[in-house]
Amino acid sequence: MSQANTDTAIPFYYPSDAVVAAAHVSGMAAYEALCARAESDYEGFWADQARELLTWKTPFTQVLDESNAPFFKWFADGTLNASYNCLDRNVERGLGDKTAIIFEADGGEVTKISYSELLAKTCQIANGLRSLGVQKGDRVVIYISMSIDGVAAMQACARIGATHSVVFGGFSAQSVRDRVEDTGAVAIITADHQVRGGKKLPLKSIVDEALALGGCDAVRNVLVVKRSGSEVAMTAGRDVWMDDLVAGQPTTCEPEWVGAEHPLFLLYTSGSTGKPKGVQHSTGGYLLHAALTTQWTFDLKADDVFWCTADIGWVTGHTYITYGPLALGGTEIVFEGVPTYPDAGRFWKMIQDHKVSIFYTAPTAIRSLIKAAEANDAVHPKSYDLSSLRLLGSVGEPINPAAWEWYYRNVGGSRCPIVDTFWQTETGGHMITPLPGATPMVPGSCTLPFPGIQAAIVDETGKDVPNGQGGILVVKRPWPSMIRTIWGDPERFKKSYYPEDFKGKYYLAGDGAIRDEKTGYFTITGRIDDVLNVSGHRMGTMEIESALVSCTELVAEAAVVGRPDDTTGEAVCAFVVLKRPLPFGDEAKAIAKQLRDHVGKEIGPIAKPKDIRFGENLPKTRSGKIMRRLLRSIAKGEAITQDTSTLENPAILDQLGQAY
Ligand code: PRX
Repeated sequence: MSQANTDTAIPFYYPSDAVVAAAHVSGMAAYEALCARAESDYEGFWADQARELLTWKTPFTQVLDESNAPFFKWFADGTLNASYNCLDRNVERGLGDKTAIIFEADGGEVTKISYSELLAKTCQIANGLRSLGVQKGDRVVIYISMSIDGVAAMQACARIGATHSVVFGGFSAQSVRDRVEDTGAVAIITADHQVRGGKKLPLKSIVDEALALGGCDAVRNVLVVKRSGSEVAMTAGRDVWMDDLVAGQPTTCEPEWVGAEHPLFLLYTSGSTGKPKGVQHSTGGYLLHAALTTQWTFDLKADDVFWCTADIGWVTGHTYITYGPLALGGTEIVFEGVPTYPDAGRFWKMIQDHKVSIFYTAPTAIRSLIKAAEANDAVHPKSYDLSSLRLLGSVGEPINPAAWEWYYRNVGGSRCPIVDTFWQTETGGHMITPLPGATPMVPGSCTLPFPGIQAAIVDETGKDVPNGQGGILVVKRPWPSMIRTIWGDPERFKKSYYPEDFKGKYYLAGDGAIRDEKTGYFTITGRIDDVLNVSGHRMGTMEIESALVSCTELVAEAAVVGRPDDTTGEAVCAFVVLKRPLPFGDEAKAIAKQLRDHVGKEIGPIAKPKDIRFGENLPKTRSGKIMRRLLRSIAKGEAITQDTSTLENPAILDQLGQAY
C-alpha cells in the first residue's frame, strides 16, 4: 500500500496497485461507473445484480414496487430460498468439500465443517423442525451462542420458510420473554449453556425463566443443543434435545420456495421509545445485498479466510456470518469466545493460526486491544505473524483516527485497506463504505456510498445541505435490503423511518453526518435520537430508564444519557431519584450496585449504567421537562454553561456531581 498522498492537502491512504488490480471493483473509475449505472437505470442496476448473485426458483419480472410506499417491495414475484442459495448451490457447483466454517471454541478446540456437511446438518434440523409442525411463516426464536449449530439453526429456519429471530445470548430472561411474546414464536432453539472467557453461563435455564414469566403461549417446543453436557431441567412434552430430534432425520430436505418478500428474519433493536422494535427483513433483497456487499466491500474470493468477529445475535453476524460469506461459497471463522481470553492476543493468534485474510471487527474491540498491547508486548500484534491478512474492516460505531492508524499499521502492516462500514440493523448491509480496491481512505471517515445507495445529508425540512455543513443522514431511494416494517407495528415503522417532516420521502437513518468540503466524504457524527452506542451495542435511553423505574421499591424517577468513553465509545450514565433519603458513601455504592444488577436482570449486562448519580430531584424546566442537555454536561464533567436560573432546587446540581 502506498501511503504517499498525491494530494497533500488531504490525508488519503491509497490502496496499492496490486490491491486495485485484483479487486472485484478495481479503481475509482469502476466505482464511479457502477454509481452512474445505478443513477441512470436504478432498477436495471439492482436487477442485474440479483440475477447474477442469486439463484431464483421462479425468476422475478418486477424489480421495485413503490405502489404502497414506504412499504417497498423488491423482486416481489420471484421465488427463492436463502438456504438453497447459501448451501446447495455451492455443493452443486463443486464446493461440497470446501470448508464453510472453521469453528474455534472458547477453549481453543477447532472444528471444521464443509459445505456438504453444513447442508446435511441444516437439512436434519429443518426436517426436525418440520416434524414438530413448524411451518412456513412461523417464527422461531434462537437464543444460542456463537456456534456451527447457531448458524445451521438459522439456515434451517430459512430452509422451511420459518422466520427466525435471534436473541443475543447476553440478554436477560425478561428480554427473551418480551421478544418471544412479540414474535409469537412457536419454538425456541437454545443450548444448555454457553461458554465465554472460560466461564460456563446458562442459556436453557434463562429460557425456562423467560417462559415462566408468561405471555409466550404460542411456544410449543424448546430445542436444546448440548454444549456443556451439564444437567439442565427439561420439561416433558415441551423440551427436546436437538441430538434426539435430528437423529434419524434425512440429510436432505426440499427447500420451501418463498416469495422474495417473505420475512427471512426479525431482529430486535433499540429505538427512541422504551420498547425494542422487531426489524423485519425480506428474503430476496436482503440476501442480494448480503452477497453483493461481501463481494464488493470485502472483496471475498475463493481462497480467502474471512472472519467477522460479531455475534450472530446482532445484524452484523446475520449478514456477514450466516448469509453473505456462505452465499458466495466462502470459508469463514466462527468464534465462540471473547477477545481477551485466555489473553488479549487471542484475535492475533487466531488470525495467525487460521491464516485469516479478511478481518472485520468493531472499534471498541480495537481500542481495548490497543490498551492491552501497549501494556504487554506478548499480546501486541507484532508478536504474531499476521502476514495472511489482506483486508481489514470496522463496524458498529465511529472509529477514531488514532485507533484507525493503529489498526492500519499494527494489524494491517500498512498494507491492508480498512473498510469503515457504516450501516444499521435496518439497512441489512453496508450503506456507506470504502471499496478496498477503489476508494482512497481517510481515517475516521466511512467515505462514500455503496454503489446504488442514494445517501444524502439534509436539514430538518428535508433540503440538501452543502458539503462542509452537518445535517441529518437520509437515503433518498429505497434499496433491496432495507427494513420492510416493524413487526406488528407498521405505523411505528412509518413514523420512525419515513416521518412527515421529510414528506415521507426519505429513509431517516437516525444519525447525523457531515460531508467533507473537498472530498465529499461522509463522516458519521452520531445518533440524533435517544439511542446510545455502547461498545457497538445499540441501546435506547428510555429502555434503560424503564428498567430503572421498574425497581419500584427504590426508584422514583430516572433519566439516562450517554457520555463519551475512551474504550466503549459511549457510556451509560443514569440520574436517579430514590424513594428514600439521599444516600452517601458506601450506602450509595451499595444501592448503585443493586440498581446495576436490576438493569442487568431487566435487559442484560450490556445495559448496566457505568455511572449512577443520585439527586433529590432531576433538573427540570418550569414546564417540568428534564433538562437532558444539562445532564449530559454533568455526565461529561463539563462546566455548566446552560441557564440554570429556572431550577427549583439548584442544590441538586451539587448532589448530582457525585458518580457511583
Ligand atoms: O450510529 C450508527 C452506528 O451504529 C448504528 C447502528 O447500530 P446497529 O443497528 O446496532 O448496527 C450496528 C452494525 C451495523 C448506526 O445508526 N454505526 C454503525 N456503523 C458505523 C456507525 N457509526 C459510525 N461509523 C460506522 N462505521
